[in-house]
Amino acid sequence: MHPALQTPLLSLLGCQLPIMLAGMGGVARHRLAAAVANAGGFGCMGMVREPPERIRSEIQALRTLTAAPFGINLIPAATDAALLKREISTCLSEQVPVMVLFWGVDAPLVRHLKAAGVTVIHQVGTVAAAEAALAAGADALIAQGVEAGGHVHGTVSTLALLPEVVALSDVPVAAAGGIGSGAALVAALALGAQGVSLGSALLATHEANAHPHHQQRLLAASAEETVYTRQFARNWHEPAPVRVLPNAVTAGAYAEEAARGESPEIGQQDGQPIYLFSTDSPLADATGRLDDMALYAGQSCGQITTLCSAAERIEQIIGEAEQTLRRLIRT
Ligand SMILES: Cc1cc2nc3c(=O)[nH]c(=O)nc-3n(C[C@H](O)[C@H](O)[C@H](O)COP(=O)(O)O)c2cc1C
Repeated sequence: MHPALQTPLLSLLGCQLPIMLAGMGGVARHRLAAAVANAGGFGCMGMVREPPERIRSEIQALRTLTAAPFGINLIPAATDAALLKREISTCLSEQVPVMVLFWGVDAPLVRHLKAAGVTVIHQVGTVAAAEAALAAGADALIAQGVEAGGHVHGTVSTLALLPEVVALSDVPVAAAGGIGSGAALVAALALGAQGVSLGSALLATHEANAHPHHQQRLLAASAEETVYTRQFARNWHEPAPVRVLPNAVTAGAYAEEAARGESPEIGQQDGQPIYLFSTDSPLADATGRLDDMALYAGQSCGQITTLCSAAERIEQIIGEAEQTLRRLIRT
């Protein structure tokens, strides 16, 4: 492998390639995390607001598929305090090696995890959040640009945010948002990143727990089609912005329901109802009005046109990155 792809972040994470699976709630479960880890990347399971029993069973299932270190992603600010406490104690009792946190920085939680020997990575969308995560003791950061799919914390592009975050400290930084190709990986490395965290590119894989409708919409979309909106705010602690594919919700077809504060049931998944305007994206077993759900996608979707295995996606991105490096560095 080209030496430019072998960054210190890899030893921190215990993986071989500078590609991390973004902690996509519901979508990144044990099958996808294991596939990424077994392909040489870093597997992370998105467990935001999941019951502790599911966190435990997903960790156990993951460990039957890979011996590689892995991460669990939680979003403290968007989780009921009592549930968060139980989630954390489950992760600690399962000896989760890495926790990937997002949204507001919960400094006491970061310190608690660090004291328990956990490696803490914080995804940030602003310099202020990066400073707060570093002050709390984060071991690595993920700089998320506004191009990203799902919940978007900042308003600055990856290209502009990344160097500012990198300049803050010697802590390794990975880039997220707008990255779906090997050339984009090399661009992130050129800006000082030591790896990338991929959501959309790994959502469109066989092992992702996303509904095929979501995957097909993402594959067909171009970067300019994605919508940055606060319309999917149910079951989140604040009306936070998300990046999604356009649908009837983003077109304003349910403006009257929104004005009346109504959010009727529109489907089911994981044995639970899904409500209009909810932050839940349609998972593999979802039924109901799938296209009215939150179809998260980053602007990277324009670079992703085929459904393949996670290993094929990673192999393709690394192969392209090697080619790009050879093209740029002719020695
Ligand atoms: C379907 C989906 C679900 C997501 N869920 C979460 C989540 O639960 N926790 C989190 O920290 N980030 C979440 N994100 C954001 C990712 O961590 C990451 O910032 C984003 O995917 C990067 O942009 P990309 O999709 O262009 O790769 C999600 C993104 C997507 C696409």
